[in-house]
Amino acid sequence: MNIGVFIPIGNNGWLISKNAPQYMPTFELNKEITQKAESYGFDFALSMIKLRGFGGETQFWEHNLESFTLMAGLAAVTSKIKLFATAATLTLPPAIVARMASTIDSISNGRFGVNLVTGWQKPEYSQMGLWPGDEFFGSRYEYLGEYAQVLRDLWDTGRSDFKGKYFQMDDCRVSPIPKADMKIICAGQSEAGMAFTAKYADYNFCFGKGVNTPTAFAPTVERLVRATENANREVSSVALFMIIADKTDEAARARWEHYKAGVDEEAVAWLGEQGAADKTSKSDTNIRQMADPTSAVNINMGTLVGSYESVARMLDEVATVKGVSGVMLTFDDFVEGIENFGKYIQPRMKSRSHVTQQLEQAV
Ligand SMILES: Cc1cc2nc3c(=O)[nH]c(=O)nc-3n(C[C@H](O)[C@H](O)[C@H](O)COP(=O)(O)O)c2cc1C
Repeated sequence: MNIGVFIPIGNNGWLISKNAPQYMPTFELNKEITQKAESYGFDFALSMIKLRGFGGETQFWEHNLESFTLMAGLAAVTSKIKLFATAATLTLPPAIVARMASTIDSISNGRFGVNLVTGWQKPEYSQMGLWPGDEFFGSRYEYLGEYAQVLRDLWDTGRSDFKGKYFQMDDCRVSPIPKADMKIICAGQSEAGMAFTAKYADYNFCFGKGVNTPTAFAPTVERLVRATENANREVSSVALFMIIADKTDEAARARWEHYKAGVDEEAVAWLGEQGAADKTSKSDTNIRQMADPTSAVNINMGTLVGSYESVARMLDEVATVKGVSGVMLTFDDFVEGIENFGKYIQPRMKSRSHVTQQLEQAV
């Protein structure tokens, strides 16, 4: 099973809590995290794009770096780990994203790929006059399909003459083209999002589900498997989990309860409002569930809480879900969390024994 890290490009990572570590996103912090992840054999690091925060006392995600420029910097200071940036496709023409990707492909020596998002939070775009109107909620993936086609044309052949509803290319060119076979990620969970993924993407990123229920997200993976059945392409799922690990189950649980007790209600309320704004996508989008009180403190991503032993066992359970090729991890404290993952969790995982062996041989 592949392991990646969802690096904290925004302040406070993924904990919307007054009791969680409070920190700003910096290049130095993300460099330390990514280099540490690389040293422990992590397969990839991904940064999201977020252009407007949720407010509240913790100013959640009010402070965010930009994804492509951050990954370009990280490409220059790493050598093995794969890197993915996220393109906010309403803000960047596809020919520019194609060229930025070519550039980072060159910096990273073929270790780069792109996460494509349509955007779901209107104020991120309306604040800069780029929201096409609320009908966009319904046409998002039609737009993204054309966008991805232009990217593929340019990356594969260096040219695009694509003529569609949203994009008209006129002998458009990008050179040099990337040397890597460019991988596209999409985290769409709606039927339209998954249909897009089946046609254009290589990986579907999805939320893990619940607390200490490592296989509860399997039905989402099942939906992707069905969506790809007729596509004749290989597309796998990668699940997002937060790790809260400590020496004992009790110590880890106490930390988790402490974070939950400090939930920033005002920021979560904003998230709820934004999630409810999309009246078009059906209940199959995960956006509406992010502010659900069950685990709003970490946007209801799957959470694994326990001793190093327990977390290793649960991650091995995740690996048994058919159609899953990896997990992407977040931590309450990323630096300490990755260190503990590398030293105490990964060596106990059967699904990572190949990496543990390689790391031992390299010493
Ligand atoms: C791992 C992961 C990463 C995501 N990254 C971003 C991001 O960087 N920016 C963004 O606007 N949305 C992001 N999203 C939201 C998705 O792109 C998508 O809109 C969401 O999962 C809802 O699915 P739907 O668009 O099919 O309704 C992410 C979702 C997941 C699960």
